[in-house]
Amino acid sequence: METTTAQHPSQQKSSRKLDQTKAPYFQALLDYVDAGVIPMHTPGHVQGNGLDRAFREFVGDNIASIDLTPMPGIDDLLAPTEAIKEAQELAADAYGADRSYFLINGSTSGNQCMMMTAVNPGDRVAVPRNSHKSILGSMVMSGARPIYMQPEIDHALHMDHCVTPETVRATLDQNPDVKAVFVVSPTYYGVAANLAEIAALVHERGRVLLVDEAWGPHFKFHPDLPLCATEAGADMCINSTHKMLSAFSQCAMLHQIGDRIDVGRLESVVKLFLSTSPNLPMVASLDVARRQIATEGHALLSAAIERARSTRERLNKIPGVYCFGEELQGRNGVFDLDPLKITVTVKDLGYTGYEASEILRYRYNVQVELADLFNIVALVTIGTPQAAADRLVYAVSELAREDRPVDIFSPSGVLERRLKAGTYKLPSIPPMRMLPREAFLAPTELVRFKQSKGRICAETISPYPPGIPVISPGEEITAEIIDYLSLELKAGVRMQGPFDKNLKHVRVVAE
Ligand SMILES: Cc1ncc(COP(=O)(O)O)c(C=O)c1O
Repeated sequence: METTTAQHPSQQKSSRKLDQTKAPYFQALLDYVDAGVIPMHTPGHVQGNGLDRAFREFVGDNIASIDLTPMPGIDDLLAPTEAIKEAQELAADAYGADRSYFLINGSTSGNQCMMMTAVNPGDRVAVPRNSHKSILGSMVMSGARPIYMQPEIDHALHMDHCVTPETVRATLDQNPDVKAVFVVSPTYYGVAANLAEIAALVHERGRVLLVDEAWGPHFKFHPDLPLCATEAGADMCINSTHKMLSAFSQCAMLHQIGDRIDVGRLESVVKLFLSTSPNLPMVASLDVARRQIATEGHALLSAAIERARSTRERLNKIPGVYCFGEELQGRNGVFDLDPLKITVTVKDLGYTGYEASEILRYRYNVQVELADLFNIVALVTIGTPQAAADRLVYAVSELAREDRPVDIFSPSGVLERRLKAGTYKLPSIPPMRMLPREAFLAPTELVRFKQSKGRICAETISPYPPGIPVISPGEEITAEIIDYLSLELKAGVRMQGPFDKNLKHVRVVAE
């Protein structure tokens, strides 16, 4: 079997040197299947023969036939010398990186790898307060000390945007011993930072820039999308190829650029995080997702951008509904926008985002990516058909026509009253009393959450999605945090991280 695709003429950037129509790793798996090799190796289902019948019937034989194990000719993700090496070189070429690594535990492991490469125990690293919880994991693993940077807060939309170059500069001025700067761009809502300016000022001071570009694996491939991190000057960045491109879930890439990173250390760290039995269909899906976007990306993304633009326009015509767009650009923390993220603010319809999301799902069969207090976020990607976008518009217009049945912000209406009074605010950053690693590994006890003021938190508490911690191990539990999280719980927010999901109790460092 041969699997190459035609090159899109308008697509190729001049910097590319390799033949992006190839997918060497997928090809290596197909060649193994074609050769009819007698499989006396893992996985135990043996190319589907031993799979549960119903599961096999559903998923089909092909996917099972390429679920193999590292062996000669198939290469090993932990020590690539053949097809995986070539596939990763093609990815680096496509993204304009010096090296790219395939990851199969998401950008979660990518963030952890970047941090474990760049910092040592006790080192200071500047991170935005609205970082994904994997950054907290990386603090626990690396033993580094986070110096939090406050992202720009948008009270009207009740969300954080990016950190500004000014904030990065001030953080470096106040903490000249910071070893690395980590930024998130774009945010879950598709807001991108001024990465080029941030990179310039980080490099001026001889520091390294790590970028969580989990939501931007497509940026490199269309001029109407924000500047990608590899081009903006990041020293390392991560992309969740599964989020906005077509790789299977959990598939991500880590890119390294320039000469500020110790590549030997990076390679050891990447291996530390890998299973010795990687899922090969996942690895192949990274290879073909790269081929697809490198060769057909311009056309695919042009269509998706146009679809998203018209969807946003139609949604904005619905009374009471607001989808932010270009008018936000230029505000603090909003340097650029990913048009493929559609944030629908439903607050003025009298619904929380959580309620709207549930209604859309159970009444109109539409599932959005994210719900928060004020908003829902829908993705329009290269895989979204027009009919899906139409259905979203229909469902939101029906939602806007519905009579709000009860006071759904909370049975007591407390949240609504506080929203109106403007006293419902994201809590300020609490004092850090221990390093995240020390608190995470310390003896702990469970205490009642409402009475935990003043104690040192030993767990991460993240309203999910988006999975951004409100409090992390080592931080003091403040009255403001107790108040905020109690209200979020009342509004129906799910909590990720705490031992007690209902937050009746919280795990704290034992006294
Ligand atoms: C900003 C950001 N970084 C990292 C991650 C983790 O990515 P993954 O789910 O690929 O592990 C997420 C997940 O939502 C995210 O939003």
